[in-house]
Amino acid sequence: MKISVIGTGYVGLVTGTCLSNLGNDVICVDIDKEKIEKLKKGIPTIYEPGLKELLVKNINNNRLTFSDSLQYGIEKSDIIFIAVGTPESESGEADMKAVWDVAKNIGKYINGYKIIINKSTVPVGSGDEVRKIINKNMNAKKHKFDVVSNPEFLREGSAISDFLSPDRIVIGSDNHNPAKIITRLYEPLNAPIITTDIKSAELIKYASNAFLATKISFVNEIANLCEVAGANVEDVATGMGLDKRIGEKFLNAGIGYGGSCFPKDTIALVSTGKKFGYNLKIVQSAIEVNKIQRKLFFEKISKFFKSRLENKKFGIWGTSFKPNTDDMRESPSVDIIKLFLKENAQINIYDPVAIAETKKIFKNKINYFSNAYDAIVDCDALVIITEWDEFKQVNFSKVKNLLSAPIIFDGRNMYDLNYMKELGFKYISVGRNQVL
Ligand SMILES: NC(=O)c1ccc[n+]([C@@H]2O[C@H](COP(=O)([O-])OP(=O)(O)OC[C@H]3O[C@@H](n4cnc5c(N)ncnc54)[C@H](O)[C@@H]3O)[C@@H](O)[C@H]2O)c1
Repeated sequence: MKISVIGTGYVGLVTGTCLSNLGNDVICVDIDKEKIEKLKKGIPTIYEPGLKELLVKNINNNRLTFSDSLQYGIEKSDIIFIAVGTPESESGEADMKAVWDVAKNIGKYINGYKIIINKSTVPVGSGDEVRKIINKNMNAKKHKFDVVSNPEFLREGSAISDFLSPDRIVIGSDNHNPAKIITRLYEPLNAPIITTDIKSAELIKYASNAFLATKISFVNEIANLCEVAGANVEDVATGMGLDKRIGEKFLNAGIGYGGSCFPKDTIALVSTGKKFGYNLKIVQSAIEVNKIQRKLFFEKISKFFKSRLENKKFGIWGTSFKPNTDDMRESPSVDIIKLFLKENAQINIYDPVAIAETKKIFKNKINYFSNAYDAIVDCDALVIITEWDEFKQVNFSKVKNLLSAPIIFDGRNMYDLNYMKELGFKYISVGRNQVL
């Protein structure tokens, strides 16, 4: 099938690359010319395990091409994926400007029957709006088209494998024929496919993200209670998670969620509720708990040093919002580093892949290191924000020697309490007893 994917960010680039790898002809389109030039040369514009190999392979097979012309992408394809960003707007609603802009262009350049697929995360009712905009912008010669909702559930850091082995594929369509064609497109993945009307599909995406965000905030509240009550959140979470109705995933207590999806999607869902006159109280609480969680972690550090952080030096490990990505959007590290800087503390950071993104935010206000150990030399404490694999089994005697005092604040509960005690660290984590 001839496919174009408009918007080549995390979702669009992964979608386009994987669909071309299944044998489809794919044109990836973006308004960012610089991005397109890099991609044409096989240079990935995001960090995602396995992406580079697939990108280069499919470019060489001539199945994957790139263009900065929406007109070209629209005219040359039968199926058009819209995968542009839908960031949070000032009011909290999803900013749909890019989606509407693509819809306008589709109306302008449509030259035959097309299936338009909304892969971006869009509020309920957006499919209807895309249809209206396309119709409004079409010239006198009317072409037929269908709009389908096909939300994406991939996770950054494992985007390729998530796309190729999804838990489910959701196809929302108000007509049978386009749903059948898109079902066929995904058949090689052998994944469960659920077909719904467009509005339900749109809502499945928001409801799923809001549920997962709520699960994280829930366990974080339990962690906060564990701290004051003297319980251990890991044991509590294990005990809860073994109940099949609850499940063990997303029960890791820590400093909360970040990234390009959960924060904006929870806020957008609450806004959608308001638009329809319904108050989503549980999701609103999950948002609030998440905001507080990073602050509480910082306050623990501040309290430990009796609120005297000025000129103290902290080595931070991990700044991306989660491991295996360089994405810094809404990362807890950003708020935490800002709080440190407000107290005039000195900050050294190390992250395996997100240094360049971190530099864009903090410029010369903090110090950057390309090695985890170099980042903690003479620091008053090590602060762990992102649970990268390479931090799991570090050389603790080296860490102890390099720090000016053996103190670790761990926002992701990476280490065993008894082991830390044995090694002689002061170790403060989340929802567990402090080792002092
Ligand atoms: N990142 C994720 O993990 C993830 C997962 C599931 C769903 N989503 C959703 O998928 C959508 C895309 O997210 P993303 O993270 O890939 O975004 P992104 O910001 O990484 O990429 C969006 C791309 O769209 C391009 N773009 C913007 N306006 C355009 C226009 N008018 N025409 C052509 N290109 C345009 C931008 O230049 C950019 O390259 C969002 O709705 C997001 O919520 C994201």
